Amino acid sequence: MRLNEFSYCVSQSLVLVPYEAYHVTRYHQWMLQPDILEATASEPLSLEEEFEMQRSWRNSDDKLTFIVLHRDTLESAMGSKVPASNKESASLPWQRQPAAELAAMIGDVNSFLIPNIRAVEEDNQDNEEVVREGREFELEVMIAEPAYRGRGLGREAVQCLIAYLSEALGAQPGQLLAKIGDDNLASQRLFTGPGLRFQLADRQPVFRQATYRCPSEAAPPTPPGWAGVLTCSRLPAAATGCGLSA
Ligand SMILES: CC(C)(COP(=O)(O)OP(=O)(O)OC[C@H]1O[C@@H](n2cnc3c(N)ncnc32)[C@H](O)[C@@H]1OP(=O)(O)O)[C@@H](O)C(=O)NCCC(=O)NCCS
Repeated sequence: MRLNEFSYCVSQSLVLVPYEAYHVTRYHQWMLQPDILEATASEPLSLEEEFEMQRSWRNSDDKLTFIVLHRDTLESAMGSKVPASNKESASLPWQRQPAAELAAMIGDVNSFLIPNIRAVEEDNQDNEEVVREGREFELEVMIAEPAYRGRGLGREAVQCLIAYLSEALGAQPGQLLAKIGDDNLASQRLFTGPGLRFQLADRQPVFRQATYRCPSEAAPPTPPGWAGVLTCSRLPAAATGCGLSA
């Protein structure tokens, strides 16, 4: 999505950056792993198709993607701190460093924007009919690097994505949802556990998955150490094309 082309987000443990061509080769390696393909309900793509996907997501009106970087690893690889306020980045705009980002890449978060839905559904909690209108935001997360799983980073990444959607697009808690496979216990616990508290809304047994929604009365989550939506400078042209693959 063009919207986040020059945006990044900083929290206590993470830095979220827009998905660039130089991330694709690593991302593609993740997306060849059978367990990740199954958990994300994805089809394997060739490297060329993955580059095409990155370009199409960048230009898309409805798909927003951030690559999740581990903040300490990034800052060690850069040899400097990431500016963590717009005041800091205004005086010295953050010059992104592709090699440091590749060293710190651990996953991605993304949101699919569903425009102008109008649906009447049965609420599983109270057996009442609920009319849903307006935009919705389907959320997805992946912490692909095994060494970084189980450390609360997946949940922090989703909290950052929600904070971004709220600040940049005015997303409301009741507009947020996640579709999770029936066997994906880690993702179910991530979304329904502390700090997010999504609730089971609708089962789709045919697809062996269910939809979980954030209650509309919930307060938007605040990621630990959230520094707001920040602005980075334009990348060198060589880094934005598909010529730089690693
Ligand atoms: C799902 C995924 C993002 C979780 O990321 P993570 O960083 O390991 O998760 P967190 O450390 O933030 O933990 C979140 C919750 O999940 C639980 N959890 C994590 N891994 C788990 C596992 N393998 N089995 C059961 N629960 C697990 C944690 O205990 C925690 O719950 P709690 O607060 O009740 O203790 C990660 O496993 C992943 O990327 N899987 C492959 C892709 C995928 O499934 N994406 C989701 C598609 S809907």
